[in-house]
Amino acid sequence: MEKRHDVLSIRNLSSLATPEGFEPRSGVAQGRIRRVSGAAIRIEAGHITFAGTEEEFVRQFGEAPHPGETVVSGLGKTALPGFVDAHTHIPWSGFREGEFNDRLKGQTYAEIAASGGGIVSTVAATRAATLAHLTASVKSRLDLMLLHGTTCCEAKTGYGLQKEAELKQLRALVHGSEGHPVTVEMTALPGHEVPLECRGDAQQKAAYIDECCNEILPALAAEGARFVDVFCETGVFDLAESRRILSAGKSCGLVPRLHADELTPLGGAELAAEIGAISADHLLFITRAGIEAMARSGVIATLLPGTSVFLRMNRYAPARDLIAAGIPVAVATDCNPGSSYTESLPAVAFFATIGMGLTVEETLTAITLNAAASLGMADERGSIEPHKAGDVVLIDAPSLEHLVYHYGVNPVSDVVVNGRLVVSSGRRLL
Ligand code: NIG
Ligand code: FE
Repeated sequence: MEKRHDVLSIRNLSSLATPEGFEPRSGVAQGRIRRVSGAAIRIEAGHITFAGTEEEFVRQFGEAPHPGETVVSGLGKTALPGFVDAHTHIPWSGFREGEFNDRLKGQTYAEIAASGGGIVSTVAATRAATLAHLTASVKSRLDLMLLHGTTCCEAKTGYGLQKEAELKQLRALVHGSEGHPVTVEMTALPGHEVPLECRGDAQQKAAYIDECCNEILPALAAEGARFVDVFCETGVFDLAESRRILSAGKSCGLVPRLHADELTPLGGAELAAEIGAISADHLLFITRAGIEAMARSGVIATLLPGTSVFLRMNRYAPARDLIAAGIPVAVATDCNPGSSYTESLPAVAFFATIGMGLTVEETLTAITLNAAASLGMADERGSIEPHKAGDVVLIDAPSLEHLVYHYGVNPVSDVVVNGRLVVSSGRRLL
């Protein structure tokens, strides 16, 4: 989205809460938040130039707005950094609501996948969809994300599993995000599953991995993908196969991140450390060795507690152990039709607190600064402080706690992206 060269101020805020810094926060620092009561923010030319008390704002800039200055009232509201959703699968077609009910009737995610449902059913629907249809669905998912406070997200391919269909997903992301306030960072995920047509024998699978490495990843990198991901899981891609796919992605300039230890303790966390991944995601079954390896190599843990709930896993990633080990924790939606159908980071933030035991402060860092760091953008986004982009979310409540305390509703009333008010009183302006 184009940047503005004028001034936007948010005045008379009940409060402001933000992590601080230009790097991921770990350990006790993940829970350290700057809180200001009676706050104001000034954004000039798309960047934050002031974040402090209303009193100090008036001392520096005067009480009356300057000519051309946009003033947003923060009365009764709390300002937070724009949310960053660091793990989504938004370009897809078709829904899997039947599987949702099948799980309630006792089937597991793995059983559904083994009987032809799961990811491959979304692959069939996504392959059949037109680019225009996929683009429209990306756009409407970005619209919903924005209304729930997300100003920046990651989004993966992975429902094409063949070159043209993977490229179609990537192009849907490019077109769907064109001119949209939400910034989208794209991830190449042809290693999301073994396509049905390549499951006959080991050679067919090996041939698909070759195609991923030699054809699909270079093509996705050439059209703007920034990251490479793989579903490193028992029965999907094992450690050696995942290593090959991630290394091939690295050779085309893509930064590795991966689905690791989601359903079984395969050692994906250790692989993330070995390969220099920026993030290892899910981690429900991470082992002690995996935690130690990630801590040593500075890999960010992106946790997806909505998926634990949605799949009725009776288990979450060990977020407290990860924080105790000094690993920066991010939290994301995993928005997809099979294992977590939500565009709402506030909803998932609730599960991060109640389910994983993160404090409200740790959760805020997880959906802002640490998530931004997992996308390589902590230097420009993820906190409200001078030099950062002017991405600010207002919740219609007097304090940060209301983000999760008032659960099951959308607490976001206003969203500012690069210094432009794009959502006001819950309604989209631009
Ligand atoms: O992150 N684990 C693999 N991928 C997704 C699920 C995708 C799907 O079920 O369609 C996940 O949970
Ligand atoms: Fe995922």
